[in-house]
Amino acid sequence: MKILVTGGLGYIGSHTVVALQQAGFEVLIVDNMSNSSIDVLEGIVKITGVSPQFKYLDLRDKNEVHQYFKDHKDIDGIIHFAASKAVGESVENPLLYYENNLNTLVYLLQECNQHHIQNLIFSSSCTVYGEPDSLPITESAPVKEANSPYGNTKQISEEIIFDTTKISDLTAIALRYFNPIGAHESAEIGELPLGVPQNLVPFITQTAIGLREQLSVFGNDYPTEDGSCIRDYIHVMDLAEAHVVALQRLLEKNNLTAFEVFNVGTGKGSSVFEVIQAFEKVSGTSLNYKVVDRRPGDVNAVYADTAKANKELGWKAQRDLEEALRSAWKWEQEVRNNKI
Ligand code: UD1
Repeated sequence: MKILVTGGLGYIGSHTVVALQQAGFEVLIVDNMSNSSIDVLEGIVKITGVSPQFKYLDLRDKNEVHQYFKDHKDIDGIIHFAASKAVGESVENPLLYYENNLNTLVYLLQECNQHHIQNLIFSSSCTVYGEPDSLPITESAPVKEANSPYGNTKQISEEIIFDTTKISDLTAIALRYFNPIGAHESAEIGELPLGVPQNLVPFITQTAIGLREQLSVFGNDYPTEDGSCIRDYIHVMDLAEAHVVALQRLLEKNNLTAFEVFNVGTGKGSSVFEVIQAFEKVSGTSLNYKVVDRRPGDVNAVYADTAKANKELGWKAQRDLEEALRSAWKWEQEVRNNKI
């Protein structure tokens, strides 16, 4: 089975390519390397012993996309990661986000229709739920008004895909990720944020390695046990494996409806202070941090109800927070010592 992975050199994409190859799929990658590097291919080869077919492709170039599918007529399924993902940047430059995340999806779906590619897995986000009314969040929780253009592109993308499944032979699964962290246990691939990291775990590891002076904890006055925000941190390899089982579900036609959504999290919430403590334990370091004001737009607590994914996909996160943080730390050390 040939699977096209868009954004396959990116953080979640590259880990999913590893999981796909290890499950026996043949992988084609397209990527415009806007937030990734060609070195990632080498890491994938080191882990799996197999080199995926790679082509530089910017999915905004409709003609190039069309040509790519003309040249590759035997694709069995697509996992679509390629997209922009920085919340703040999307507020500053919404049209970039609508072009990069929505136009490209439309072009891909047009090719799916034309070439009868029936299986699509889409990267969605728990951001579609906004501030949840109750916890843990189930897939039937309402999709709330998006609080950023980035979040809006995830909501609109799900609608575009759903509408397309109604008028074609396409079947699709949107995976709503909670907070992916960590790296492949080999430390051959991992997360490489551009510039100053916006997300908690890369900021922690960069602080511990001495690249940043101090972590700012955004608020300790939330209505949670220790006052810091709660999130559902999922090991990126668990997330990668969820893509493989979701794809298999479509290929084996086990899906119940043409468009399905699944939460992909651990089901366990951890506070910022708990993450810091767990990191200090696994790294044997003491982290320099201070509490500052809340970050605008942050919600108090978010974690997944994973019952649907457990039952329907037969998938459950296998790795805990400490293992994820250990892998993130190992990766950070590898990057600073050997990759840069
Ligand atoms: C964010 C995005 C989400 C996106 C995800 C992955 C928002 C509102 N949500 O999730 O849509 O899918 O990133 O890119 O931006 N924190 C600190 N100090 C830091 C960084 C973070 O205390 O330097 C705290 C935050 O307040 C939050 C938690 O750590 O409570 C996690 O933050 P982060 O890693 O940025 O993820 P989210 O905001 O949950």
